[in-house]
Amino acid sequence: MTEQTIDKQPSSKQPSAATPALNITPVSDAIGAEIRGVDLAGIDDATFAALHRAWLDHGVLLLRDQLLSDAQLVAFSRRFGDLDEAPPNENGKGGVDGFPEVLVLSNVKENGKAIGALGNAEAIWHSDMNYIPEPPTGSVLYSLEVPETGGDTGFCNMYKALDALPSDLRAHIADLKIKHDSSTNSGGFLREGAKPVTDVRDCPGAIHPIVRTHPETGRKALYLGRRRYAYIMGLDLDESEALLDEIWSHATRDDFTWHHRWRVGDVLIWDNRCAMHRRDDFDDSARRIMHRTQIKGDAPF
Ligand code: SIN
Repeated sequence: MTEQTIDKQPSSKQPSAATPALNITPVSDAIGAEIRGVDLAGIDDATFAALHRAWLDHGVLLLRDQLLSDAQLVAFSRRFGDLDEAPPNENGKGGVDGFPEVLVLSNVKENGKAIGALGNAEAIWHSDMNYIPEPPTGSVLYSLEVPETGGDTGFCNMYKALDALPSDLRAHIADLKIKHDSSTNSGGFLREGAKPVTDVRDCPGAIHPIVRTHPETGRKALYLGRRRYAYIMGLDLDESEALLDEIWSHATRDDFTWHHRWRVGDVLIWDNRCAMHRRDDFDDSARRIMHRTQIKGDAPF
């Protein structure tokens, strides 16, 4: 695989001359890089600055063989910015004891109740919390137990997806905005208190431009959120559906995506501003337990 860089423009957090060189290996031609030789439990400021730069350059970072307590996961994640508290899962539980920022993603049940969110079903392509005015900056996902097959997590490079749009389509969507439904999560579950959707034009949720500018790299990226119950403001329903289908089938092309096969101890860090993600389903008799933190968004866009 050749060296690949998503962004070559300066960021606000560039490493200084004293920054250590990281061992960075792109994991695909589309998106993502593996960083070797860094222990996230004991990372210093200079190494973090280099890691942050690599995150902006590659959109998703993979670090293997990590051993993190929840306290260490939270402390590392806080280096990126303030963290969101975990939203309640389908059983109304948010966070883990002592760490309200740690969301459990799992299919495991204890005493008949799910210990985490999303279960074992496929999670469709999405950006996290696209349905709020200031969606999170990114997420850190750490694997504690993984199934032998299934449950892979995919990522899609939204810079590349925008750059490769046919010019007439890019001009057509330049000033359009999507209403991002807040009723349903990426596993297809209705959020607590939400009403079933009967007309996408009436769904609650934030409205964002389809093309957004990344606040740190200055690059433009597609921002689609999730396909289900999306609506392009101001268009007839049929027109909105057709245009969304066209953009989505382009954006999720194989050449913009990479899928990660998990091992225990893997950490993935994604930039929610330029990468969408999804998860494969897996056999419910297998156990999958992941702990996730989410970096707060800093501004509407
Ligand atoms: C998600 O954050 O949507 C799920 C990611 C995963 O469980 O791999």
